[in-house]
Amino acid sequence: MEPATESSAPGAANPAVPMDIAARDNLREWDRGHLWHPLTAHSDLWAESGPLVLAAGRGATVFDTAGRPYLDATAGLWCVNVGYGREELVDAAARQMAQLPFFPLTQSHPPAIRLARRLAELLPATPRVFFTNSGSEANEVAFKVVRQYWRRRGQPERLKILGRHRAYHGSTLATLAAGGQTSRREDYGPLPAGFGQVAAPYCHRCPFQLTYPACELKCADDFLARIEQEGPGTVAAVIVEPITAGGGVLVPPDGYLARVADICQQHEVKLIVDEVVTGFGRTGAWFGHQPVAPDAVTMAKGLASGYQPIGAAAFADELFHTIEGTFPGTLPNTPAGDHFRHVNTYGGHPVAAAVALANLAVLEREHLPEQSRIQGARLVCGLVAALEGNPLVTDIRGRGLLVGIELEPGVPRAAARAVAALRARGMLVGRTTDVGPDADNIVILAPPLVIGGEEVDRLVDAVAAALADIAQQPAGA
Ligand SMILES: Cc1ncc(COP(=O)(O)O)c(C=O)c1O
Repeated sequence: MEPATESSAPGAANPAVPMDIAARDNLREWDRGHLWHPLTAHSDLWAESGPLVLAAGRGATVFDTAGRPYLDATAGLWCVNVGYGREELVDAAARQMAQLPFFPLTQSHPPAIRLARRLAELLPATPRVFFTNSGSEANEVAFKVVRQYWRRRGQPERLKILGRHRAYHGSTLATLAAGGQTSRREDYGPLPAGFGQVAAPYCHRCPFQLTYPACELKCADDFLARIEQEGPGTVAAVIVEPITAGGGVLVPPDGYLARVADICQQHEVKLIVDEVVTGFGRTGAWFGHQPVAPDAVTMAKGLASGYQPIGAAAFADELFHTIEGTFPGTLPNTPAGDHFRHVNTYGGHPVAAAVALANLAVLEREHLPEQSRIQGARLVCGLVAALEGNPLVTDIRGRGLLVGIELEPGVPRAAARAVAALRARGMLVGRTTDVGPDADNIVILAPPLVIGGEEVDRLVDAVAAALADIAQQPAGA
Protein backbone atom coordinates (compact mmCIF):
# COMPACT_ATOMS: atom_id res chain seq x y z
CA MET A 1 0.00 0.00 0.00
CA GLU A 2 1.38 3.44 -0.92
CA PRO A 3 1.38 6.04 1.84
CA ALA A 4 -1.05 8.87 1.31
CA THR A 5 0.64 12.18 0.61
CA GLU A 6 -0.31 15.14 2.79
CA SER A 7 -1.26 18.36 1.04
CA SER A 8 0.16 21.61 2.31
CA ALA A 9 -3.16 23.29 1.46
CA PRO A 10 -4.94 24.64 4.55
CA GLY A 11 -7.99 22.58 5.39
CA ALA A 12 -6.95 19.91 2.94
CA ALA A 13 -5.86 17.07 5.22
CA ASN A 14 -6.03 13.97 3.12
CA PRO A 15 -9.42 12.31 3.53
CA ALA A 16 -8.82 9.61 0.90
CA VAL A 17 -9.25 6.00 1.84
CA PRO A 18 -5.90 4.55 0.78
CA MET A 19 -6.41 1.86 -1.83
CA ASP A 20 -3.99 -0.96 -2.58
CA ILE A 21 -2.23 -1.02 -5.93
CA ALA A 22 -4.14 -4.06 -7.24
CA ALA A 23 -7.47 -2.34 -6.61
CA ARG A 24 -6.22 0.79 -8.37
CA ASP A 25 -5.03 -1.25 -11.34
CA ASN A 26 -8.44 -2.88 -11.59
CA LEU A 27 -10.16 0.46 -11.72
CA ARG A 28 -7.86 1.64 -14.51
CA GLU A 29 -8.45 -1.55 -16.50
CA TRP A 30 -12.23 -1.35 -16.08
CA ASP A 31 -12.16 2.33 -17.02
CA ARG A 32 -10.24 1.51 -20.19
CA GLY A 33 -12.60 -1.33 -21.00
CA HIS A 34 -15.96 0.21 -20.29
CA LEU A 35 -16.15 3.92 -19.62
CA TRP A 36 -16.84 6.34 -22.50
CA HIS A 37 -15.36 9.71 -21.50
CA PRO A 38 -16.94 12.97 -22.70
CA LEU A 39 -15.04 15.39 -24.95
CA THR A 40 -11.90 13.28 -24.82
CA ALA A 41 -10.08 11.25 -27.43
CA HIS A 42 -9.36 7.99 -25.60
CA SER A 43 -6.14 7.54 -27.56
CA ASP A 44 -4.85 10.88 -26.18
CA LEU A 45 -6.05 10.02 -22.71
CA TRP A 46 -4.18 6.73 -22.66
CA ALA A 47 -1.17 8.01 -24.60
CA GLU A 48 -0.40 9.95 -21.44
CA SER A 49 -1.10 8.42 -18.07
CA GLY A 50 -4.83 7.76 -18.48
CA PRO A 51 -7.56 9.65 -16.66
CA LEU A 52 -7.02 10.83 -13.13
CA VAL A 53 -9.12 8.60 -10.91
CA LEU A 54 -10.22 10.85 -8.07
CA ALA A 55 -11.34 9.50 -4.75
CA ALA A 56 -11.89 12.42 -2.40
CA GLY A 57 -11.85 16.18 -2.00
CA ARG A 58 -11.51 18.83 0.70
CA GLY A 59 -11.63 22.59 0.21
CA ALA A 60 -9.99 23.37 -3.13
CA THR A 61 -8.03 20.10 -3.24
CA VAL A 62 -8.91 16.70 -4.69
CA PHE A 63 -7.09 13.41 -4.08
CA ASP A 64 -6.53 10.51 -6.43
CA THR A 65 -6.84 6.86 -5.45
CA ALA A 66 -3.19 6.87 -4.31
CA GLY A 67 -3.95 9.78 -2.00
CA ARG A 68 -2.01 12.26 -4.13
CA PRO A 69 -3.36 15.83 -3.77
CA TYR A 70 -4.16 18.18 -6.66
CA LEU A 71 -5.11 21.80 -6.26
CA ASP A 72 -8.26 21.85 -8.37
CA ALA A 73 -8.25 25.03 -10.44
CA THR A 74 -11.08 23.55 -12.52
CA ALA A 75 -13.58 23.28 -9.62
CA GLY A 76 -14.53 19.93 -11.17
CA LEU A 77 -16.04 21.45 -14.28
CA TRP A 78 -16.25 25.05 -13.01
CA CYS A 79 -19.01 24.06 -10.63
CA VAL A 80 -17.76 23.13 -7.13
CA ASN A 81 -18.07 26.75 -6.00
CA VAL A 82 -18.30 26.04 -2.24
CA GLY A 83 -15.39 23.59 -2.39
CA TYR A 84 -15.20 19.90 -1.53
CA GLY A 85 -16.17 18.16 1.72
CA ARG A 86 -19.13 20.28 2.83
CA GLU A 87 -20.87 18.19 5.48
CA GLU A 88 -23.91 20.44 5.62
CA LEU A 89 -24.68 19.72 1.97
CA VAL A 90 -24.29 16.01 2.66
CA ASP A 91 -26.65 16.31 5.65
CA ALA A 92 -29.21 18.23 3.60
CA ALA A 93 -29.20 15.42 1.02
CA ALA A 94 -29.48 12.67 3.63
CA ARG A 95 -32.33 14.41 5.47
CA GLN A 96 -34.29 14.97 2.27
CA MET A 97 -33.69 11.40 1.07
CA ALA A 98 -35.10 10.07 4.32
CA GLN A 99 -38.02 12.52 4.27
CA LEU A 100 -39.15 12.30 0.65
CA PRO A 101 -36.65 10.96 -1.88
CA PHE A 102 -38.64 11.86 -4.96
CA PHE A 103 -41.76 13.42 -6.31
CA PRO A 104 -42.17 15.09 -9.71
CA LEU A 105 -42.99 18.75 -10.09
CA THR A 106 -46.22 18.02 -11.89
CA GLN A 107 -47.23 18.35 -8.21
CA SER A 108 -44.94 20.04 -5.70
CA HIS A 109 -42.65 19.66 -2.67
CA PRO A 110 -41.08 22.01 -0.10
CA PRO A 111 -37.44 22.05 -1.33
CA ALA A 112 -38.42 23.05 -4.90
CA ILE A 113 -40.85 25.69 -3.62
CA ARG A 114 -38.24 27.18 -1.30
CA LEU A 115 -35.52 27.08 -3.92
CA ALA A 116 -37.74 28.77 -6.54
CA ARG A 117 -38.53 31.51 -4.03
CA ARG A 118 -34.86 31.99 -3.15
CA LEU A 119 -33.89 32.24 -6.82
CA ALA A 120 -36.69 34.75 -7.37
CA GLU A 121 -35.15 36.88 -4.59
CA LEU A 122 -31.75 36.70 -6.24
CA LEU A 123 -33.15 37.28 -9.75
CA PRO A 124 -36.00 39.78 -9.33
CA ALA A 125 -36.45 40.40 -13.08
CA THR A 126 -37.11 36.69 -13.69
CA PRO A 127 -39.11 35.40 -10.72
CA ARG A 128 -40.71 32.31 -12.35
CA VAL A 129 -38.46 29.25 -12.16
CA PHE A 130 -38.54 26.02 -14.18
CA PHE A 131 -36.14 23.33 -12.90
CA THR A 132 -34.02 21.15 -15.17
CA ASN A 133 -31.40 18.41 -14.96
CA SER A 134 -28.56 20.41 -16.51
CA GLY A 135 -27.47 23.64 -18.10
CA SER A 136 -28.12 22.29 -21.58
CA GLU A 137 -31.68 21.46 -20.66
CA ALA A 138 -32.15 24.88 -19.06
CA ASN A 139 -31.24 26.48 -22.40
CA GLU A 140 -33.50 24.09 -24.33
CA VAL A 141 -36.33 25.10 -22.00
CA ALA A 142 -35.60 28.79 -22.58
CA PHE A 143 -35.72 28.28 -26.37
CA LYS A 144 -39.02 26.42 -26.16
CA VAL A 145 -40.56 29.01 -23.85
CA VAL A 146 -39.66 31.98 -26.07
CA ARG A 147 -40.97 30.24 -29.19
CA GLN A 148 -44.21 29.29 -27.44
CA TYR A 149 -44.46 32.84 -26.07
CA TRP A 150 -44.33 34.37 -29.54
CA ARG A 151 -46.92 31.94 -30.88
CA ARG A 152 -49.25 32.89 -28.08
CA ARG A 153 -48.61 36.54 -28.92
CA GLY A 154 -49.78 35.91 -32.48
CA GLN A 155 -46.30 36.13 -34.06
CA PRO A 156 -45.42 32.53 -34.95
CA GLU A 157 -42.82 33.69 -37.48
CA ARG A 158 -40.71 35.01 -34.60
CA LEU A 159 -38.75 31.83 -34.04
CA LYS A 160 -35.07 32.59 -34.67
CA ILE A 161 -32.59 32.55 -31.83
CA LEU A 162 -29.33 34.46 -32.20
CA GLY A 163 -26.17 33.70 -30.25
CA ARG A 164 -22.49 34.45 -30.77
CA HIS A 165 -19.42 32.87 -32.27
CA ARG A 166 -17.36 30.88 -29.74
CA ALA A 167 -20.28 30.67 -27.31
CA TYR A 168 -21.26 27.41 -25.65
CA HIS A 169 -24.78 26.68 -24.49
CA GLY A 170 -24.76 22.89 -24.20
CA SER A 171 -24.32 19.61 -26.02
CA THR A 172 -27.88 18.81 -27.14
CA LEU A 173 -28.77 19.46 -30.76
CA ALA A 174 -30.57 22.78 -30.24
CA THR A 175 -27.95 24.11 -27.83
CA LEU A 176 -25.21 23.08 -30.27
CA ALA A 177 -27.09 25.00 -32.96
CA ALA A 178 -27.28 28.05 -30.68
CA GLY A 179 -23.60 27.90 -29.70
CA GLY A 180 -20.74 29.12 -31.84
CA GLN A 181 -18.09 26.43 -31.41
CA THR A 182 -17.75 24.99 -34.87
CA SER A 183 -15.72 21.90 -33.97
CA ARG A 184 -18.37 20.74 -31.49
CA ARG A 185 -20.98 20.56 -34.23
CA GLU A 186 -19.05 18.61 -36.82
CA ASP A 187 -20.60 15.18 -37.52
CA TYR A 188 -23.87 15.86 -35.70
CA GLY A 189 -26.00 17.63 -38.32
CA PRO A 190 -28.54 18.36 -39.41
CA LEU A 191 -29.04 20.66 -36.46
CA PRO A 192 -32.39 22.31 -35.76
CA ALA A 193 -33.15 25.32 -37.98
CA GLY A 194 -33.62 28.88 -36.80
CA PHE A 195 -30.31 29.56 -35.01
CA GLY A 196 -27.50 31.94 -35.98
CA GLN A 197 -24.44 33.66 -34.55
CA VAL A 198 -22.98 37.16 -34.52
CA ALA A 199 -19.49 38.41 -33.58
CA ALA A 200 -18.01 37.55 -30.20
CA PRO A 201 -16.98 40.41 -27.89
CA TYR A 202 -13.32 39.44 -28.13
CA CYS A 203 -11.20 42.57 -27.64
CA HIS A 204 -7.88 40.70 -27.69
CA ARG A 205 -8.48 39.59 -31.28
CA CYS A 206 -11.31 41.91 -32.25
CA PRO A 207 -13.23 40.43 -35.20
CA PHE A 208 -13.49 43.99 -36.58
CA GLN A 209 -9.83 44.88 -35.83
CA LEU A 210 -11.04 47.76 -33.67
CA THR A 211 -10.05 48.94 -30.21
CA TYR A 212 -12.28 49.82 -27.27
CA PRO A 213 -13.66 52.45 -26.69
CA ALA A 214 -13.12 53.86 -30.19
CA CYS A 215 -14.95 50.77 -31.52
CA GLU A 216 -18.20 52.09 -29.96
CA LEU A 217 -19.17 48.50 -29.17
CA LYS A 218 -19.46 47.36 -32.76
CA CYS A 219 -19.62 43.76 -31.51
CA ALA A 220 -22.84 44.55 -29.62
CA ASP A 221 -24.21 46.35 -32.66
CA ASP A 222 -23.60 43.19 -34.68
CA PHE A 223 -26.79 41.89 -33.02
CA LEU A 224 -28.63 44.95 -34.34
CA ALA A 225 -27.27 44.44 -37.84
CA ARG A 226 -28.21 40.76 -37.81
CA ILE A 227 -31.69 41.33 -36.40
CA GLU A 228 -32.33 43.90 -39.13
CA GLN A 229 -30.93 41.57 -41.77
CA GLU A 230 -33.06 38.62 -40.62
CA GLY A 231 -36.14 40.84 -40.25
CA PRO A 232 -36.97 41.88 -36.68
CA GLY A 233 -40.33 40.15 -36.87
CA THR A 234 -38.57 36.79 -37.28
CA VAL A 235 -36.28 36.91 -34.24
CA ALA A 236 -37.60 35.40 -31.00
CA ALA A 237 -34.59 35.83 -28.74
CA VAL A 238 -30.91 36.51 -28.28
CA ILE A 239 -28.82 34.31 -25.99
CA VAL A 240 -25.52 35.42 -24.41
CA GLU A 241 -23.20 34.31 -21.65
CA PRO A 242 -22.16 37.35 -19.55
CA ILE A 243 -18.59 36.13 -20.13
CA THR A 244 -18.01 33.56 -22.87
CA ALA A 245 -16.53 30.89 -20.61
CA GLY A 246 -15.64 27.70 -22.51
CA GLY A 247 -15.01 29.77 -25.63
CA GLY A 248 -11.93 31.22 -23.93
CA VAL A 249 -13.01 33.56 -21.09
CA LEU A 250 -13.99 36.39 -23.43
CA VAL A 251 -14.80 39.29 -21.10
CA PRO A 252 -16.92 41.85 -22.97
CA PRO A 253 -16.01 45.52 -22.80
CA ASP A 254 -17.91 47.79 -20.39
CA GLY A 255 -21.39 48.63 -21.57
CA TYR A 256 -21.63 45.64 -23.91
CA LEU A 257 -24.48 43.75 -22.24
CA ALA A 258 -26.49 46.91 -21.58
CA ARG A 259 -26.20 47.76 -25.28
CA VAL A 260 -27.33 44.26 -26.28
CA ALA A 261 -30.30 44.58 -23.91
CA ASP A 262 -31.22 47.94 -25.49
CA ILE A 263 -31.04 46.45 -28.98
CA CYS A 264 -33.29 43.58 -27.90
CA GLN A 265 -35.78 45.98 -26.36
CA GLN A 266 -35.78 48.18 -29.44
CA HIS A 267 -36.93 45.21 -31.56
CA GLU A 268 -38.93 43.41 -28.85
CA VAL A 269 -36.50 40.50 -28.99
CA LYS A 270 -36.31 38.48 -25.75
CA LEU A 271 -32.95 38.40 -23.98
CA ILE A 272 -31.80 35.06 -22.51
CA VAL A 273 -28.71 35.25 -20.31
CA ASP A 274 -26.83 31.97 -19.88
CA GLU A 275 -25.39 32.06 -16.35
CA VAL A 276 -24.55 28.36 -16.25
CA VAL A 277 -20.86 29.09 -15.58
CA THR A 278 -20.94 32.70 -14.44
CA GLY A 279 -23.72 32.35 -11.85
CA PHE A 280 -23.41 31.92 -8.09
CA GLY A 281 -20.29 33.94 -7.44
CA ARG A 282 -17.96 32.69 -10.14
CA THR A 283 -17.25 36.18 -11.52
CA GLY A 284 -17.14 37.99 -8.17
CA ALA A 285 -20.87 38.76 -7.95
CA TRP A 286 -23.94 36.57 -7.54
CA PHE A 287 -24.56 36.79 -11.28
CA GLY A 288 -22.63 38.19 -14.22
CA HIS A 289 -25.47 40.10 -15.92
CA GLN A 290 -26.92 42.36 -13.24
CA PRO A 291 -28.08 45.19 -13.25
CA VAL A 292 -29.29 44.40 -16.81
CA ALA A 293 -32.81 42.91 -16.59
CA PRO A 294 -33.17 39.96 -19.00
CA ASP A 295 -36.32 38.01 -19.92
CA ALA A 296 -34.76 34.67 -18.99
CA VAL A 297 -31.77 33.47 -17.01
CA THR A 298 -30.45 29.92 -17.29
CA MET A 299 -28.23 28.34 -14.64
CA ALA A 300 -26.79 25.04 -13.35
CA LYS A 301 -23.21 24.32 -12.12
CA GLY A 302 -22.85 26.61 -9.04
CA LEU A 303 -26.53 26.24 -8.15
CA ALA A 304 -25.71 23.12 -6.11
CA SER A 305 -21.91 23.38 -6.51
CA GLY A 306 -22.01 20.04 -8.34
CA TYR A 307 -23.06 18.14 -5.19
CA GLN A 308 -26.24 17.25 -7.07
CA PRO A 309 -27.14 17.66 -10.75
CA ILE A 310 -29.64 20.49 -11.04
CA GLY A 311 -30.30 23.38 -13.42
CA ALA A 312 -32.98 26.00 -13.82
CA ALA A 313 -34.40 28.51 -16.24
CA ALA A 314 -35.92 31.61 -14.64
CA PHE A 315 -38.36 33.78 -16.58
CA ALA A 316 -40.00 37.19 -16.45
CA ASP A 317 -43.63 36.95 -15.35
CA GLU A 318 -44.79 38.12 -18.77
CA LEU A 319 -43.53 34.92 -20.43
CA PHE A 320 -45.14 32.66 -17.87
CA HIS A 321 -48.48 34.47 -17.89
CA THR A 322 -48.58 34.58 -21.68
CA ILE A 323 -48.10 30.84 -21.95
CA GLU A 324 -50.68 30.34 -19.20
CA GLY A 325 -53.05 32.53 -21.23
CA THR A 326 -53.57 35.17 -18.55
CA PHE A 327 -51.44 38.00 -19.94
CA PRO A 328 -53.30 40.78 -21.81
CA GLY A 329 -53.10 40.31 -25.57
CA THR A 330 -52.56 36.55 -25.43
CA LEU A 331 -54.33 34.53 -28.11
CA PRO A 332 -57.09 32.17 -27.04
CA ASN A 333 -56.18 28.59 -26.16
CA THR A 334 -54.29 26.49 -28.65
CA PRO A 335 -55.80 23.03 -29.21
CA ALA A 336 -53.05 21.59 -27.01
CA GLY A 337 -53.97 23.85 -24.09
CA ASP A 338 -52.45 26.62 -22.05
CA HIS A 339 -49.34 25.22 -20.51
CA PHE A 340 -45.69 24.56 -21.13
CA ARG A 341 -45.50 21.08 -22.63
CA HIS A 342 -42.09 20.05 -21.31
CA VAL A 343 -41.61 17.48 -18.58
CA ASN A 344 -38.48 16.01 -17.02
CA THR A 345 -38.77 13.25 -14.46
CA TYR A 346 -35.97 14.56 -12.28
CA GLY A 347 -36.25 18.32 -12.82
CA GLY A 348 -36.28 20.01 -9.41
CA HIS A 349 -35.53 16.70 -7.70
CA PRO A 350 -36.19 17.17 -3.97
CA VAL A 351 -32.73 16.01 -2.93
CA ALA A 352 -31.02 18.26 -5.49
CA ALA A 353 -33.22 21.20 -4.50
CA ALA A 354 -32.49 20.67 -0.78
CA VAL A 355 -28.76 20.56 -1.51
CA ALA A 356 -28.99 23.67 -3.69
CA LEU A 357 -30.69 25.55 -0.84
CA ALA A 358 -27.93 24.52 1.58
CA ASN A 359 -25.33 25.52 -1.03
CA LEU A 360 -26.86 28.98 -1.50
CA ALA A 361 -26.81 29.43 2.29
CA VAL A 362 -23.06 28.67 2.34
CA LEU A 363 -22.37 31.05 -0.56
CA GLU A 364 -24.19 33.81 1.30
CA ARG A 365 -22.88 33.14 4.82
CA GLU A 366 -19.25 32.93 3.70
CA HIS A 367 -19.53 35.84 1.24
CA LEU A 368 -18.11 33.64 -1.47
CA PRO A 369 -19.01 35.95 -4.40
CA GLU A 370 -16.92 38.61 -2.63
CA GLN A 371 -14.14 36.08 -1.98
CA SER A 372 -14.17 35.25 -5.66
CA ARG A 373 -13.64 38.92 -6.48
CA ILE A 374 -10.78 39.25 -3.99
CA GLN A 375 -8.93 36.04 -4.85
CA GLY A 376 -9.63 36.54 -8.56
CA ALA A 377 -7.86 39.90 -8.40
CA ARG A 378 -4.94 38.30 -6.58
CA LEU A 379 -4.77 35.56 -9.20
CA VAL A 380 -4.80 37.91 -12.18
CA CYS A 381 -2.28 40.34 -10.61
CA GLY A 382 -0.02 37.41 -9.72
CA LEU A 383 -0.22 35.97 -13.23
CA VAL A 384 0.43 39.31 -14.91
CA ALA A 385 3.59 39.75 -12.83
CA ALA A 386 4.79 36.15 -13.07
CA LEU A 387 4.17 35.76 -16.81
CA GLU A 388 5.63 39.08 -17.85
CA GLY A 389 8.09 38.52 -20.66
CA ASN A 390 6.91 34.98 -21.44
CA PRO A 391 6.67 35.05 -25.26
CA LEU A 392 4.05 32.30 -25.24
CA VAL A 393 1.46 34.39 -23.40
CA THR A 394 -0.53 36.89 -25.45
CA ASP A 395 -3.25 37.87 -22.96
CA ILE A 396 -4.39 37.34 -19.36
CA ARG A 397 -8.01 38.21 -18.62
CA GLY A 398 -10.88 37.35 -16.36
CA ARG A 399 -13.35 38.44 -13.76
CA GLY A 400 -13.53 36.97 -10.28
CA LEU A 401 -12.32 33.38 -10.29
CA LEU A 402 -12.82 32.85 -14.01
CA VAL A 403 -9.49 33.54 -15.68
CA GLY A 404 -8.09 32.82 -19.14
CA ILE A 405 -4.47 32.81 -20.26
CA GLU A 406 -4.26 33.03 -24.02
CA LEU A 407 -1.23 31.44 -25.66
CA GLU A 408 0.34 31.95 -29.07
CA PRO A 409 -1.94 30.01 -31.44
CA GLY A 410 1.05 29.04 -33.57
CA VAL A 411 2.70 26.96 -30.85
CA PRO A 412 1.48 23.37 -31.30
CA ARG A 413 -0.81 22.11 -28.52
CA ALA A 414 0.55 24.70 -26.10
CA ALA A 415 -2.57 24.79 -23.90
CA ALA A 416 -2.87 20.98 -23.84
CA ARG A 417 0.80 20.70 -22.88
CA ALA A 418 0.28 23.29 -20.12
CA VAL A 419 -2.60 21.25 -18.71
CA ALA A 420 -0.43 18.10 -18.66
CA ALA A 421 2.60 19.90 -17.20
CA LEU A 422 0.51 21.42 -14.42
CA ARG A 423 -1.10 18.09 -13.62
CA ALA A 424 2.40 16.68 -13.14
CA ARG A 425 2.99 19.53 -10.68
CA GLY A 426 -0.19 18.71 -8.73
CA MET A 427 -2.44 21.39 -10.25
CA LEU A 428 -5.57 20.83 -12.33
CA VAL A 429 -6.36 23.51 -14.90
CA GLY A 430 -8.68 23.58 -17.90
CA ARG A 431 -8.37 24.79 -21.46
CA THR A 432 -10.45 25.55 -24.55
CA THR A 433 -11.34 22.33 -26.38
CA ASP A 434 -13.03 21.87 -29.77
CA VAL A 435 -13.89 25.57 -29.98
CA GLY A 436 -12.75 25.92 -33.59
CA PRO A 437 -9.63 26.42 -35.72
CA ASP A 438 -6.81 28.13 -33.78
CA ALA A 439 -9.00 28.55 -30.72
CA ASP A 440 -7.84 25.70 -28.47
CA ASN A 441 -5.01 27.87 -27.15
CA ILE A 442 -6.44 29.25 -23.92
CA VAL A 443 -5.70 27.89 -20.44
CA ILE A 444 -8.64 28.39 -18.08
CA LEU A 445 -8.46 28.74 -14.30
CA ALA A 446 -11.69 28.50 -12.31
CA PRO A 447 -10.96 27.12 -8.82
CA PRO A 448 -13.50 26.67 -6.03
CA LEU A 449 -14.42 30.06 -4.56
CA VAL A 450 -12.96 28.94 -1.21
CA ILE A 451 -9.42 28.91 -2.57
CA GLY A 452 -7.04 30.65 -0.13
CA GLY A 453 -4.40 33.28 -0.86
CA GLU A 454 -1.52 30.87 -0.35
CA GLU A 455 -3.14 28.41 -2.77
CA VAL A 456 -3.59 31.18 -5.33
CA ASP A 457 0.11 32.01 -5.03
CA ARG A 458 1.11 28.36 -5.48
CA LEU A 459 -1.10 28.19 -8.56
CA VAL A 460 0.53 31.31 -10.01
CA ASP A 461 4.03 29.93 -9.40
CA ALA A 462 3.18 26.58 -10.96
CA VAL A 463 1.55 28.17 -14.03
CA ALA A 464 4.55 30.46 -14.50
CA ALA A 465 7.00 27.55 -14.24
CA ALA A 466 5.02 25.30 -16.60
CA LEU A 467 4.59 28.02 -19.22
CA ALA A 468 8.28 28.98 -18.95
CA ASP A 469 9.20 25.36 -19.77
CA ILE A 470 6.88 25.28 -22.77
CA ALA A 471 8.17 28.66 -24.01
CA GLN A 472 11.69 27.16 -23.95
CA GLN A 473 10.54 24.24 -26.08
CA PRO A 474 7.83 25.70 -28.34
CA ALA A 475 7.91 22.74 -30.71
CA GLY A 476 7.51 20.22 -27.89
CA ALA A 477 10.03 17.83 -26.42
C1 LIG B 1 -22.22 28.61 -20.63
C2 LIG B 1 -22.70 27.20 -20.56
N1 LIG B 1 -23.99 26.94 -20.83
C3 LIG B 1 -24.48 25.69 -20.77
C4 LIG B 1 -23.69 24.63 -20.43
C5 LIG B 1 -24.26 23.25 -20.41
O1 LIG B 1 -24.41 22.82 -19.11
P1 LIG B 1 -24.49 21.23 -18.82
O2 LIG B 1 -23.14 20.68 -19.04
O3 LIG B 1 -24.94 21.20 -17.38
O4 LIG B 1 -25.52 20.68 -19.74
C6 LIG B 1 -22.34 24.85 -20.13
C7 LIG B 1 -21.47 23.72 -19.73
O5 LIG B 1 -20.29 23.85 -19.52
C8 LIG B 1 -21.83 26.16 -20.22
O6 LIG B 1 -20.52 26.40 -20.03
